[in-house]
Amino acid sequence: MTGTGEVLFDFIASSVKEFVERETDDSKLSLDRRRELGFTFPFPVKQTSVSSGTLLKWTKGFAIEDMIGKEVAGCLEKAMTKKGLNMRVAALVNDSVGTLSLGHYHDTDTVAAVIIGTGTNACYLERTEAIIKSQGLLTASGGMVVNMEWGNFWSSHLPRTVYDTELDADSPNPNDQGFEKLISGMYLGDVVRRVIVRMSQESDIFKPISSKLSMPFILRTPLIAAMHEDDSPDLEKVGSILRENLEIPDAPLKVRRLVVKVCDVVTRRAARLAAAGIVGILKKIGRDGSGGITGGRSRSDHKMRRTVVAMEGGLYTGYTMFREYLHEALTEILGEDIAKHVVLKVTEDGSAMGAALLAAAHSSVPVDNVQLL
Ligand code: GLC
Repeated sequence: MTGTGEVLFDFIASSVKEFVERETDDSKLSLDRRRELGFTFPFPVKQTSVSSGTLLKWTKGFAIEDMIGKEVAGCLEKAMTKKGLNMRVAALVNDSVGTLSLGHYHDTDTVAAVIIGTGTNACYLERTEAIIKSQGLLTASGGMVVNMEWGNFWSSHLPRTVYDTELDADSPNPNDQGFEKLISGMYLGDVVRRVIVRMSQESDIFKPISSKLSMPFILRTPLIAAMHEDDSPDLEKVGSILRENLEIPDAPLKVRRLVVKVCDVVTRRAARLAAAGIVGILKKIGRDGSGGITGGRSRSDHKMRRTVVAMEGGLYTGYTMFREYLHEALTEILGEDIAKHVVLKVTEDGSAMGAALLAAAHSSVPVDNVQLL
């Protein structure tokens, strides 16, 4: 995550090579034939064609300076050539775009995709003429996918606390990815940890103060999910996580309850913000039932179209309370009448499978020979 671009792409190329070598005989393409690859690259890219783009910046803790501004598909192709692989990147795809692609393949009512995992992002289908940046570029369908990179959204209305400001300052990318830092899996655990640190400084409830507690990112989000979802009467799981991961021994039940409450507040805030982001998209494309910025149907029009949002990412799929809070907020903002037409649908492995589909669609070899890796 912090080395050189060459090391990173050599690693990816050797993983691809291992995969190719594991293939069963009947799926083997003749060795002299060039293979086509869909490359899911979940970072901000300036897309220069379907199969190329330059890295704008790293997010989610990656910091490989020599890669900024480089064309990433070319880097992968170079590394694959070094490993003796005859492969070409046929589609370079953000994970949100891959997810939208697979979602739309299975269900044509899919208009957007949202990732809530280590990072968070969304993309949606827009009419090309509504995209100022596209400046007269036309597509055959009249539509284009916009990768929003919403993790970098910021507004003074967002509920930033001192914990968020300090987390941001200690992160590898200060002043960047503000929305992502309030929502995604890479950060939630650390927001909770910072609240506990403050409580331990201002009271004696976490005595003795453990040195582990002051280590940034030591409390990972899966641990806060496990504490939050501990339904045992004496919160045993909370007790063991505090003991084993934060070196806080013998926390009484009252303190364990307080920790669960902190997990709840932080997770609920994240889920509600993500829901607000989804409604923002629906509003932009006129699917929120209110007429929409680009002109949709009115709230009184009962024929609101079925609207599917493809969902992916461990925080959404693996954290029940997060998912429930998100759905609750979505219904609260849209109202039940509209919300019942909005379906959030998990696409399994969509970011990778969708990239493979796009590679197939843009391949120069017959589609029979393209495999979903
Ligand atoms: C980060 C990346 C973005 C990606 C998201 C989810 O926000 O910048 O490209 O889609 O994480 O993985």
